[in-house]
Amino acid sequence: MILVLLGPPGAGKGTQGEKLAEQLGIPKVATGDVLRAAVREQTPLGLAAKAAMDRGDLVPDDVILGIMKEALDSPAAARGAILDGVVRTVPQAEGLSRVLGELGRPLDAVLLFEIQDEELVGRLSGRTVCEKCQTPYAGLEPGTTCAKCGGTLVRRKDDEPEAVRNRLKNYHAQTAPVIGWYERTGGPLRRVDALGSMEDVLARARKALGL
Ligand code: AP5
Repeated sequence: MILVLLGPPGAGKGTQGEKLAEQLGIPKVATGDVLRAAVREQTPLGLAAKAAMDRGDLVPDDVILGIMKEALDSPAAARGAILDGVVRTVPQAEGLSRVLGELGRPLDAVLLFEIQDEELVGRLSGRTVCEKCQTPYAGLEPGTTCAKCGGTLVRRKDDEPEAVRNRLKNYHAQTAPVIGWYERTGGPLRRVDALGSMEDVLARARKALGL
């Protein structure tokens, strides 16, 4: 199964993607995680992406298309993949469609997590993430130990209020048009109400996928 997770920053793509990946037994590929690992390791990709990410801007489409292609072509994705935040512009949606066509694989679903901006600002200001495995947590302070891998929880630089406002602005300007693109091209778009407990949102996501 190839599944795209779409939605504004803080909508819960990472949280639900983790659970769906576990339940479906396929890997989750998150461009944000790939880019943050590159920043930590100071690779050329990371050095090029860091400033844009810290401001909450998108990194260039050609960089994302390279990551997307490599991930989908890898043996780990032989049975499928959950693409978390991989498609954020219309050229990226077109690029994914082209790559899947070349690989002869269908796109099974695009899950759109829908939620109001006001809820997101609160969620992101209270979020910490494991610096090692990237698991997000709500209401735990930086320095806490990650329950999943023993790493240390940190606050993301782009969760500071100014960067969050910029990410939301970019979402509405650059990513929201992707929804219309999937609607126009007959893509398998499924809407999920992302407000409510994590368990309720997961149940809605599973229902939207027919699971
Ligand atoms: P990325 O890491 O993908 O950030 P994002 O899309 O802004 O998404 P987030 O990780 O902030 O939120 P999420 O939806 O995963 O929510 P989460 O589950 O953590 O990208 C970072 C940057 O990389 C981008 O800004 C850009 O620069 C670059 N980039 C990445 N991909 C790109 C691309 N394709 N093109 C160009 N640039 C790209 O949940 C948030 C919080 O809420 C957590 O604390 C969680 O515990 C909590 N929470 C989750 N669900 C619930 C719930 N139901 N109720 C209450 N709290 C909840």
